[in-house]
Amino acid sequence: MSDQKENGSQADFVVVANRLPVDLERTADGERRWTASPGGLVSALEPFLRSRKGAWVGWPGVPDVDVDEFDDDGLVLHPVSLSADEVRDYYEGFSNATLWPLYHDVVERPVFDRAWWNSYVKVNRRFAQASADVAAHGATVWIQDYQLQLVPAMLRELRPDLRIGFFLHIPFPPVELFMQMPWRAAIIRGLTGADLVGFHRPGGAQNFLWLCRQLIGLESTRGAVGVRSRPGTMQVGDRTVRVGAFPISIDAAGLDNLARTKGVQERAAQLRRDLGNPKTVLLGVDRLDYTKGIDLRLQALHELLHEGRLQPDDVTFVQLATPSRERVEHYQRMRGEIEQMVGRINGEFSRVGHPVVHYLHQSVDRTELAAFFSAADVMVVTPLRDGMNLVCKEYVAARHDLGGALVLSEFAGAAAELSSAFLVNPHDLDGVKDALVAAITLDPAEGRRRMRAMRRQVLTHDVDRWARSFLQALGAEAVD
Ligand code: ADP
Ligand code: F6P
Repeated sequence: MSDQKENGSQADFVVVANRLPVDLERTADGERRWTASPGGLVSALEPFLRSRKGAWVGWPGVPDVDVDEFDDDGLVLHPVSLSADEVRDYYEGFSNATLWPLYHDVVERPVFDRAWWNSYVKVNRRFAQASADVAAHGATVWIQDYQLQLVPAMLRELRPDLRIGFFLHIPFPPVELFMQMPWRAAIIRGLTGADLVGFHRPGGAQNFLWLCRQLIGLESTRGAVGVRSRPGTMQVGDRTVRVGAFPISIDAAGLDNLARTKGVQERAAQLRRDLGNPKTVLLGVDRLDYTKGIDLRLQALHELLHEGRLQPDDVTFVQLATPSRERVEHYQRMRGEIEQMVGRINGEFSRVGHPVVHYLHQSVDRTELAAFFSAADVMVVTPLRDGMNLVCKEYVAARHDLGGALVLSEFAGAAAELSSAFLVNPHDLDGVKDALVAAITLDPAEGRRRMRAMRRQVLTHDVDRWARSFLQALGAEAVD
């Protein structure tokens, strides 16, 4: 018996994610307005899904609101509401103080709390039911990310007729770390409800296959998983579940075109003037998250200035930091530390009218971001661990002039694709400092060679290719 609602609008293609692509904001005067949601998942998936006219099931970003489904420029959005307690326990708690640090190499200590887990189960069930209501008979449902790992099995039980895919946007951890999770078998079982489980990197897929054997006794393949090829398989009852690696990407052509516009180029020149025309503009663009290594790059800059290897009059460092998860303790602590370091560097090295570090705790729109990318001589991306990191790919896509240099952590998934960047181990502060100096003093011809190689990779491996390769492996899209 399938549990399919007969009324309401139903879709053949449904994306399910913790957040809708837009967030509901309550302004000070009590008005409501929708703004773009933060993060790489929405940046990547939204342009793809808009071209498909599918449905999107997700949370509108604020607690205790009931919003009816609505059409957003051809995309039908189906809001799932969360109470204030659920935001605290399911979202801030289990998703972002348990799973997030555990899956990011325990950069911070994960908190294991039984009430949070219960809330995670309950909210996952609500997402599964909402997806079952929205999906047409035989539809393809694509579930996203770590907040919803139980949804595949729950939805399969409600709607065996569906084709179900799951993609994890963050790293899947080494098995030794995953084994700390008190509810480890339930999570693995939840994921195996999908027909295809996708990760950014082959290593994540292999870790998952191993855990399926060890924790729930499934017979899974042991051979190496390839990138977009040679998926692993396992038998779950009468279903074959596939497990593969699909590195996510960006709307590269869209950003390339935007960055070429006169408006963006003029704004980039204006930004450099506003910054006082320094010899070198360094740029960081991140959600304000402790995994991103913002503190490390500030520390490297501080030491370089202190040692006289960089002159404060020559360099300006711009850090754009989107506010993120502001009620979670780890994030509050990290924000304080970063803002203290910014104050310290500026206190020691700035002159009136020329701060060395410009720190903006805010989001900027796409056009402004493209202008910052165009204006920056060195893009600094130093996460301690990152599933992919889209910012570095965006920088490369915006540099049609072949200018600029990229300093990139080895521990970002993107490092496997961008080998012409200055790759650094972010734990090795001297290495980060040397890479910054090398990028700042880069010979222009060598810089163009590196940028050309990175652009070739990013422009030919865009988000459309990512989505199509996943959906083809799921059997939901014709192979071209
Ligand atoms: P994550 O998904 O962990 O946030 P990604 O690097 O994969 O990290 O994606 C972040 C996305 O958010 C990118 O598209 C990036 O351009 C965008 N972004 C990050 N910080 C800002 C900011 N301050 N203003 C505007 N966009 C931002
Ligand atoms: O890609 C990682 C991710 O956590 C997404 O799942 C999420 O939507 C985004 O970053 C932003 O985080 P949050 O939704 O917690 O603000």
